[in-house]
Amino acid sequence: MNPNGFKIGNIQINPPLVLAPMAGISHLPFRRLIRKYGAPGLFFTEMLSARALPGEQFDWPGFVQCDEEEHPISYQIFASDPRDAEAATQKLCQGPVDIVDLNLSCPAPEIAKKRKAGAHLLNDLDMISRILRAMKSVSTVPVTAKIRLGKTADRGFLAELAAVFTENEVAAVTIHPRVTGEKLKRVSRWEYIGYMKEMMTVPVIGNGDVKTREDCLRMFSETGCDGVMIGRAAVQKPWIFSTINREGADITPEFLQKCYLEAVRLVSDYFEEPRFLGRIKEFTWYFSKNMKFGHHFASLIQNADSLTEVKGIVENKFQGSC
Ligand SMILES: Cc1cc2nc3c(=O)[nH]c(=O)nc-3n(C[C@H](O)[C@H](O)[C@H](O)COP(=O)(O)O)c2cc1C
Repeated sequence: MNPNGFKIGNIQINPPLVLAPMAGISHLPFRRLIRKYGAPGLFFTEMLSARALPGEQFDWPGFVQCDEEEHPISYQIFASDPRDAEAATQKLCQGPVDIVDLNLSCPAPEIAKKRKAGAHLLNDLDMISRILRAMKSVSTVPVTAKIRLGKTADRGFLAELAAVFTENEVAAVTIHPRVTGEKLKRVSRWEYIGYMKEMMTVPVIGNGDVKTREDCLRMFSETGCDGVMIGRAAVQKPWIFSTINREGADITPEFLQKCYLEAVRLVSDYFEEPRFLGRIKEFTWYFSKNMKFGHHFASLIQNADSLTEVKGIVENKFQGSC
């Protein structure tokens, strides 16, 4: 791990650790929680619809607001039409945005099948080029991309994709080395991160299955990547970025309860109740993995109907679940 981090364009990323874009999770209150326990060198927002983005307000609670303290931050968009991508990039560049990232990795049917965006675009290199060109034509900040491997794990295809990125002056690439249809349970194929690094002259961020400091150091040394992106493990352990940098926190049941309550407070202060509940339930699936009887705790939270009920469950059941 390079102690000086790395650069995307002129932006210094230090430490070279990145919070993954995660729909329903990487919202502002979650990023605040992460900051409280130790920030990465770069935050990502959850993926944002390029079509809907021009209607968003930077100074209003929602999808695009960010804190002054969370720079650098990369805003990720998904798009299937170059005109939408251009309008979204233009809008983002009017706000406090450091990097705009194009999602070429999401295989979820609502994005890939229905909207022909995300990982679906890996079937059409020409469309990727057109979208990147549209984004670059209006962007005042670096434009990056996050990819999966495509339909199959194929070095030839990755080389073609790397050429498209180079031609369109993409400033960095994140690679999550699973083929499009693969579930997150299957082990990611880190050898393709190393291969992408050989192909690109700009920074490559590796992603997939980093759960501990040791995994992170191993990803750096085995692949030669410039940065490591962490997703699910950062939801389970919002303190993970600080434990990679230095000694870990003492994880007692009291510590876990305090962290969970802090998440509840941050999310409920920011989102109105129906949206608050959805967000805290999503967070709880991952966070409850820290607890011995976490599944039971998570099931109770999934059935909660209000903030008061969530707090009651934490008060009565949390300690017994650790
Ligand atoms: C709940 C959830 C939501 C996700 N949403 C996005 C997204 O919005 N954009 C994206 O590029 N990847 C998304 N991903 C994929 C992650 O960014 C990451 O590539 C994947 O989880 C593998 O990294 P990990 O093993 O560190 O979790 C999501 C993953 C999860 C679990």
